[in-house]
Amino acid sequence: MLRALELARRAWGATHPNPMVGAVITEEGRAVAEGWHEAAGGPHAEVAALRALGRRPAPSAVLHVTLEPCCTHGRTPPCVEAILASGIRTVVVGARDPNPAHAGKGLDLLRKAGVAVVEGVLEEACRDLNFIFNHWIVRRRPLLALKVAATLDGLLVPSAGAPRELTGPQARADVHRWRRLFPAVAVSADTLLADNPRLTARDDGPERCPIRFVLDRRFRSAGRSGLYLFSDHHRDRTVVVGLASEVRPADAAWYEAEGVRTWALPGDSDGFIAAWSERCASEGVTGVMIEGGPGLSSALLDDHAVDMLFAYVAPKLGGDPSHGPWFGSQPPILNAVRVEQLGDDVLFRGVIGR
Ligand SMILES: NC(=O)c1ccc[n+]([C@@H]2O[C@H](COP(=O)([O-])OP(=O)(O)OC[C@H]3O[C@@H](n4cnc5c(N)ncnc54)[C@H](OP(=O)(O)O)[C@@H]3O)[C@@H](O)[C@H]2O)c1
Repeated sequence: MLRALELARRAWGATHPNPMVGAVITEEGRAVAEGWHEAAGGPHAEVAALRALGRRPAPSAVLHVTLEPCCTHGRTPPCVEAILASGIRTVVVGARDPNPAHAGKGLDLLRKAGVAVVEGVLEEACRDLNFIFNHWIVRRRPLLALKVAATLDGLLVPSAGAPRELTGPQARADVHRWRRLFPAVAVSADTLLADNPRLTARDDGPERCPIRFVLDRRFRSAGRSGLYLFSDHHRDRTVVVGLASEVRPADAAWYEAEGVRTWALPGDSDGFIAAWSERCASEGVTGVMIEGGPGLSSALLDDHAVDMLFAYVAPKLGGDPSHGPWFGSQPPILNAVRVEQLGDDVLFRGVIGR
């Protein structure tokens, strides 16, 4: 299963809206074939492994797969059918598929057909791998994750004259790894104007550009042609999100002329994030990492608008306190927390409790 997880991760960020899945076929305890789901529309991991085997599995063959095999016709036929047709008699599964159309039904079908099914092997790791998919497939709205980099005393903005980056190279590389996973990232207009970020993943491998949202209710960033998001060769991946009632047509026309997309959302300021999330859902955007400054982070947490928190904490004290706290007036509770040391910094990643 560890190997199957490794295989699944080869498609990091490439399978949306589908999950990442890996599979290994063993015979007499030896791996004889492996496969993974490379992209939506392509073969599922189980089928890829069976194809890689290229022959009928031995009677002792065991299929290990990180996610419950599907049992419905999507863009590809159900994996349960492929497994039964192959003659494999033992299937070891990491996590159940939370998709209400599956959710244990695939395992029931296998068992009813006489296949031995072992569940829950490395279950937590298998489930965590697909936290974006797991959220999307049940709620049908994007997983919104807030990411901050903070000092020990909870400040997000360095003091004037201090180095711009709060965290070290390993934590920054980790952010790029998540940008490679998430279908989209977002910043406020203030952070865009202060930092001129590129918001691409530039860790290992070719540069990847997620959809880059600028949350800018009044299109205050219009006219700023020098910014990467409005001028680099990924600018058609930038979407400036405003409120229809607050933006000027001339500003919308400016973005369009630059090759940047805009969404002018219905409703008022209070409903802005909900309207944005709804539009994301209708466009099939399954998850967004919001790189929030103190103002936006506080507002999102106070509005209970985010589902997950990624907090990178640097062993530093002090910063610019003029922006106020980033965690709002009702600091959130974090559940299912994962802690990771990245050089001198620590990442706390958790689900925000309601
Ligand atoms: N350490 C970190 O992790 C980190 C991350 C990002 C930025 N930063 C730093 O933070 C500083 C900027 O911080 P900031 O507090 O001035 O700005 P910010 O938090 O990035 O954004 C504040 C803006 O967000 C918008 N906003 C507030 N509530 C909102 C809501 N409910 N829905 C949608 N939009 C909302 C408002 O703009 P509108 O009213 O115009 O819509 C507001 O002016 C920069 O120095 C930047 O370098 C640090």
